[in-house]
Amino acid sequence: MEKSINKIGVLTSGGDAPGMNACIRAVVRTGIYYNIEMVGVMKGYQGLIDNEFIPLPSHAVSNIIQRGGTILKTARCMEFKTKEGREKAFRNLQAQGIDALIVIGGDGTFSGAEVFSREFNVPVIGIPGTIDNDLFGTDFTIGFDTANNSVIQAIDQIRDTAASHNRLFFVEVMGRDAGVIALWAGIAGGSEAILIPEKETAIESLISKLAEGAENQKSSSIVVVAEGEKSGGALKIAEEVKRRFDHYDTKVTVLGHLQRGGSPTCFDRVLASRMGYAAVKALLNNVEGKMIGMVNNRMHFTELSLAISRHSPFDEELAEIAAVLSI
Ligand code: F6P
Repeated sequence: MEKSINKIGVLTSGGDAPGMNACIRAVVRTGIYYNIEMVGVMKGYQGLIDNEFIPLPSHAVSNIIQRGGTILKTARCMEFKTKEGREKAFRNLQAQGIDALIVIGGDGTFSGAEVFSREFNVPVIGIPGTIDNDLFGTDFTIGFDTANNSVIQAIDQIRDTAASHNRLFFVEVMGRDAGVIALWAGIAGGSEAILIPEKETAIESLISKLAEGAENQKSSSIVVVAEGEKSGGALKIAEEVKRRFDHYDTKVTVLGHLQRGGSPTCFDRVLASRMGYAAVKALLNNVEGKMIGMVNNRMHFTELSLAISRHSPFDEELAEIAAVLSI
């Protein structure tokens, strides 16, 4: 039987990502356009459990499309992993008269959504908002492009000082389980090497590559390291390289959370707007239990259970391009 949707709740969960606000705006404005009452849930699933709801009229989302972070705040909520926590959340949702939920976040967010929608038969649509771009079922996640742009701006600036001093810089970027930011920003920043969790780091070949570069008159070198790189991370690798190859003065820069902030790029704003619009339309068409994605520049739905079961496939061609262009 078709469920009638009159009131939709929206929340952001997990790590914030630039473009989440643009997405909230799109969800709210689309809902209102179709005469749906829109409600915000504060602090992700924690707000569902703690009964923190706010009305979202159209003006509540004015002047946020350009802002990083999330006006709804976000959290990684342990209590929602328990049955008791989810029961509380469901009771609050019912008391609010909310018929469906739109959750914006990463795989942790979707795991919670998948269980919750199954247990309590609540229609849920997931929107991928994470800088990591590691979700199965979408070519891009909201925030990835902005994070990459922040990283390459930092790399460009580091390159200036690296070249002036003949230095070797190890730049650590985010990505606990995935090296997608490292790969993209490494290529765009013209890095000499990219070290990521998906590939084993071979110190020997890294050193020979750096040595070759030095012989070929490279005055500086930049190695981009994903934080999830498996042989010990940027600091440890830099130590090891420094011990065995002293041509350059070696430095480490950990970019950290600056990658998560900032005004979203045009690409992220448009992606967020498309996904937010499509998520509301999906619920109105009785589509549920799915993550929206963008595949080949078209909106595409993937079962939440499938989206959380694997990561996006690793792009071997990009890795090859990075290796070829960094000689
Ligand atoms: O998932 C997004 C992300 O920024 C990862 O790249 C990073 O490993 C993690 O979140 C950091 O999480 P937190 O902000 O909780 O330290």
